[in-house]
Amino acid sequence: MSSSSSGRLPGTTLTPLSLIKHLDSKILIDGMLVSPHSKKTFPVHNPATMDVIGQAAEASAEDVERAVESSRKAQKEWRHMDAAKRGLLVSQCGELLEEHAEELARLMTLETGKALRTESQVEAKVFSNTFRFYGGLGLELKGETIPLSNSMLTLTIREPLGVVGAIIAWNVPLLLMSLKVAPALVAGNTVVIKSAEEAPFAVLRAAEIINTILPPGVLNVISGDGPTTGAALVHHPHVAKITFTGSVETGKEIYKHSSKKLVPVTLELGGKSPMIICEDVDLPTVVDGAIASMRFTRQGQSCTAASRIFVHQSLFDKFLALFKEKLNSLKMGDPMDLETDIGAIISPKQHKRILDYIDIGKTTPGAVAHECSALPNDPKLTKGLFVRPVFFTGLSNSHKVCREEIFGPVTAIIPWSDFADVLNQANDSDYGLAATLWTNDLHRALEGVHKLEAGLVQVNQNVVVQPGLSYGGFKSSGLGKEASLEAMLEHFTQKKTIIFNMQ
Ligand code: NAI
Ligand code: MG
Repeated sequence: MSSSSSGRLPGTTLTPLSLIKHLDSKILIDGMLVSPHSKKTFPVHNPATMDVIGQAAEASAEDVERAVESSRKAQKEWRHMDAAKRGLLVSQCGELLEEHAEELARLMTLETGKALRTESQVEAKVFSNTFRFYGGLGLELKGETIPLSNSMLTLTIREPLGVVGAIIAWNVPLLLMSLKVAPALVAGNTVVIKSAEEAPFAVLRAAEIINTILPPGVLNVISGDGPTTGAALVHHPHVAKITFTGSVETGKEIYKHSSKKLVPVTLELGGKSPMIICEDVDLPTVVDGAIASMRFTRQGQSCTAASRIFVHQSLFDKFLALFKEKLNSLKMGDPMDLETDIGAIISPKQHKRILDYIDIGKTTPGAVAHECSALPNDPKLTKGLFVRPVFFTGLSNSHKVCREEIFGPVTAIIPWSDFADVLNQANDSDYGLAATLWTNDLHRALEGVHKLEAGLVQVNQNVVVQPGLSYGGFKSSGLGKEASLEAMLEHFTQKKTIIFNMQ
């Protein structure tokens, strides 16, 4: 049951680099860290320095086969364990992951370039809480009775789907892992998770810790790229469900292949989330909310980032001044430094993509790029992938920068004067993940929450994903929900109808 080394090492004594040495070039199968059959690896970088921090295993189709078969074998017992017992084990995982929160946060900061204080430490907490939340829901895997006839007992029960394939992105690797793994396991499935190329280590370490509690094979971890490793998982005949977070393009590809196998999918894809600010609000509160909601402290690398901010004309100039002032006060620097608010962009590919969008905005007649904060001047960060947070004025909602997901610290601020019109603009997007409305006018708030086309609409606040709240997009932002009881029941179980003839 236990992995090659104990997960119960005191977290604070382990530096991320010493942990990476231990995890280097490994996948996790049957409770053990092992080398892939492929013998292939790829380098993982610290985006803040571009130093290579370790090698990740590139799992081949043969390695995927091994992982799926291990999970298939483990599923036979796991599915028949009492649901409350499975829940208890998943809760215990939550407890143990909390003990390791700091260690996991540091590991995640090293491989993603996200600031430790503002991002990774927060995420590590939500991560363990999600395991605890789902751990308490074992007995909620309930069915119904149907009064078909007095001489019959007719009921439904919920059964697991089988082996779940989870494919995740790099922006919030632990959060994404928990949203997929915890409900799938409590519902009686076993899981093979593929980490993102850019951020394999925190996920692997977390799984190693979890494997000191769960039976071997219940949770296996592979790493590798999309076309080889990810596709092999999607295509595998014994994978009964795919749950995915990433780009729209990959989501569609996965949907297409899953349709051939006729297996269900959950897709959490991109966003271009609007924020509408009315004239009756407290400006400093709203500016803080807008900065938080744009996830500037995550370099804007969030699918819910408020990347279109519509501000009532009467407040526009004051809003811009305060927004700039507050954004300037955020410190960009070494992500591991607790003083740092903003870290680095995940990869050279994403870095270039963001700079290209900024250039497109800058060369648009009438547009102004307001670049804020300052690049770090620490000599060890000179190769780091830093981008100054920027907001544009003078761009219309139909501009490319306002239509396409940039996944970087870039937002557009657009004035409005007519509420019906601004709602139309907010909805004029291929995406529908999240939307925020700031107003103290109850009628407007009600109209807004009914009319905004988004899976998550918030009024006068911006909480991030919370265990318990259903989360999932409309339109091109995805299919299905995560994070809630509903997500576990609807997306990780199938119903069986049973009829007893009592005569
Ligand atoms: P991606 O969709 O290519 O990668 C996400 C995951 O899918 C990774 O684990 C990758 O290995 C896997 N994958 C890629 N191709 C696959 C395939 N054919 N079959 C199976 N798995 C496959 O996203 P990427 O390249 O990391 O980011 C590109 C853009 O996607 C970003 O700029 C952003 O706009 C969006 N994105 C959205 C996220 C969200 O939270 N919804 C998260 C990350 C990216
Ligand atoms: Mg990296």
